[in-house]
Amino acid sequence: MNDAARPSLKHHESAVGHVTGRAVFTDEQHPPAGMLSLYPVQAPHAHARLLGIDADAARAMPGVRAVFTAADIPGINDTGPILHDEPLLPTDLVQYHGQAVAWVAAEREDQARDAAARVLVRYEVLPACLDLDAAIAQERFHMPPAKVERGDVAAALATAPHVVEGEVRCGGQDHFYLETQACWAHVDGEGLVQVVASTQHPSETQAMVAHVLGLSANRVVCRCLRMGGGFGGKETQANQTAAMAALTASLTGRPVRVKLPRALDMQLTGKRHPFLGRYRAGFADDGTLLALDLELTADGGWSCDLSPPVLMRAMVHVDNAYYWPAIRIVGRIAKTNVASNTAFRGFGGPQGMLVGEEVLDRVARHLGRPPEDVRERNLYREDRGNTTPYGQPVVDNHLPLLWTQLRRSSSLDARRAEIAAFNAANPTRKRGLAMTPVKFGIAFNKTVYNQAGALVHVYSDGSVQLNHGGTEMGQGLHTKMLAVAARVLGVSPARLQLMATSTDKVPNTSATAASSGSDLNGQAVKAACETLLARLAPVAADLLGGAAQDVVFADDHAHLRGAPATRVPFAQVACAAYNARVSLSATGFYRTPGLHWDPATGTGHPFHYYAFGAAVSEVEVCGHTGVHTLRRVDILHDVGDPLVEAIDRGQVEGGFVQGMGWLTCEELRWDAHGKLLTDAPSTYKIPTVGEVARELRIDLFRRPAPPTPEVIFHSKAVGEPPLMLALSVREALRDAVAAFAPAARRVGLAAPSTPEAVWRAVRAVRAVRAGG
Ligand code: MTE
Ligand code: MOS
Repeated sequence: MNDAARPSLKHHESAVGHVTGRAVFTDEQHPPAGMLSLYPVQAPHAHARLLGIDADAARAMPGVRAVFTAADIPGINDTGPILHDEPLLPTDLVQYHGQAVAWVAAEREDQARDAAARVLVRYEVLPACLDLDAAIAQERFHMPPAKVERGDVAAALATAPHVVEGEVRCGGQDHFYLETQACWAHVDGEGLVQVVASTQHPSETQAMVAHVLGLSANRVVCRCLRMGGGFGGKETQANQTAAMAALTASLTGRPVRVKLPRALDMQLTGKRHPFLGRYRAGFADDGTLLALDLELTADGGWSCDLSPPVLMRAMVHVDNAYYWPAIRIVGRIAKTNVASNTAFRGFGGPQGMLVGEEVLDRVARHLGRPPEDVRERNLYREDRGNTTPYGQPVVDNHLPLLWTQLRRSSSLDARRAEIAAFNAANPTRKRGLAMTPVKFGIAFNKTVYNQAGALVHVYSDGSVQLNHGGTEMGQGLHTKMLAVAARVLGVSPARLQLMATSTDKVPNTSATAASSGSDLNGQAVKAACETLLARLAPVAADLLGGAAQDVVFADDHAHLRGAPATRVPFAQVACAAYNARVSLSATGFYRTPGLHWDPATGTGHPFHYYAFGAAVSEVEVCGHTGVHTLRRVDILHDVGDPLVEAIDRGQVEGGFVQGMGWLTCEELRWDAHGKLLTDAPSTYKIPTVGEVARELRIDLFRRPAPPTPEVIFHSKAVGEPPLMLALSVREALRDAVAAFAPAARRVGLAAPSTPEAVWRAVRAVRAVRAGG
């Protein structure tokens, strides 16, 4: 991008490219001459034995160059990130409907697709286990149960003045990134495998490609400039397509591209985990929570993938922002014959919190108290229970203050009265209101992932190249890294060139995930820039006739402290450093301090700090149809001192809307044979601008004190936490449903709360009223 087109860091660094279409994505990067396309042969059964594959007819089709099966894999036939239970191509068993059993490589994609239909595969159909209930009944689990426990739950339940029990379920969610899974690969003149992939985890993609091909990691380079969205769906799910592209490139000697059409992407790749929670909760007359006994089961799909850490994040977010003195959570991962469920914004946290908020609402309605009062009463607070079930204190806890501010600024209490009046006057339309908090732990539960690297070059003309280990998926990480480097080096962002993420620049990187991208890579970029400044300062001091410790870099110049008028340009300092034979290239490294986690006991200090926010949502529901509208949303969210405020506001808005989609309109359906029916935007409804509240008031929390130390420039992670603000929409819908039967002590509501689900919920509460 030329300098004129380069936006200031008030916006996303690619904003102009995004809107003009000039920002280049993986499948648009100069397709090399002679490139082949790949298309999968998909199994028409959810569970079957593979008896034989006959590809002769397909091989004879026009343009077809090869058909690959498991037998063609020279290295290890596996892409499982944790367990080795995920063959890239099956050898004997098909484990979900649509699974790729072979891939066709042809000159053109349509030729590959036509030929894939001509590959003859013989199967012996086996009984399939298609959902959570079936898996639980058959005791099909990926792992032994996990547990988080504090206090004597049985004793606390036995003495609690009130006990309720129930079951809550939530559905999955397709990532629906605008750019589907895409990758291209070629083998270069030195025999190195060059992979360009839309991946959140280039180092893992590199490692998977290497072991599938039987190569060492230094023979594979994986690059990613930007993704058209990831949302967790490219944390592991990019590896299979990348491995197939690389395998085909290495076996044919031709460049190869895979770009999944939307329907294939939706059929082949994993989604957010559906969950089932079964609980017993004990509480006092005033709504104080006393004890929770919860069994949480996630639908992992056919392979393990990232399900164990997803489950664990769900388990350590059931408490959300509330103190439970006694709590026991047992978690399991069901093994079913559907696509393998995976990371999705919040990584299990949203599902755990959904269960927790369901219980809070049960408690409030059981006692006939306003849910916001019961929620407020139980918030973690420094002056009472402020330690999580896994033993980590809730550091830097400003949530009670944030809550009070939002309750006031949203006029919650006045609107309660208005809504009551509206509901009293309207027998068929009811409004509902809910306020819910978010507390979300920041850091990877997997301690080793909490590290990052950067590589910064200054050229002798004073221009700078910036490499870091994170990936850009629209969340603005590249923009934030430019902001960090510009701030540390005291130069304008125009001087900086951000480079594509590449495993030959910064090795052994972590996935860009867990909202930790800017925390981790920001510190690594800062460290690299500080190393450079330490080398440049003596050079500048010589030019300025002062001491190195007095040199200040600002405004693209260097000057001596107290004498800003006498200054030398940054470029001149860089050139002088080169001439003095001073190294102008530096790496930076960071690891998050103080983390530990013991999976055996479910205790430790897994998070560096917590992100906080709260939301108030107001909805209106039609009792005849269940059709609902979101009337107004007020959000107060804590991003610390934002690195780039516009980006953070965008993350809060986008996260909230994506959460709302999960909870209100996105519904996955399969047929009786396990075939995904909702594999297109026509049948899978994501929220559009029409569903967003007409009044969406987003404020960033102004903190009384600087946020948690040791987070880059006092910022806070923002990528995932706002998604869970959307739980306020679900609870507001429940509140509206409750208004159809004001005395109801229990209001069930399915998730997603589609119009049908809301209509059923209204019918159910009315039936209870009618039945007394
Ligand atoms: N925002 C956009 N626009 N696109 C995305 O794919 N992914 C989310 C979030 N925000 C995503 C996004 C997810 S799942 C995560 S973990 C974080 O961004 C990752 O980026 P960060 O760590 O830099 O916040
Ligand atoms: Mo985000 S689910 O951690 O990629």
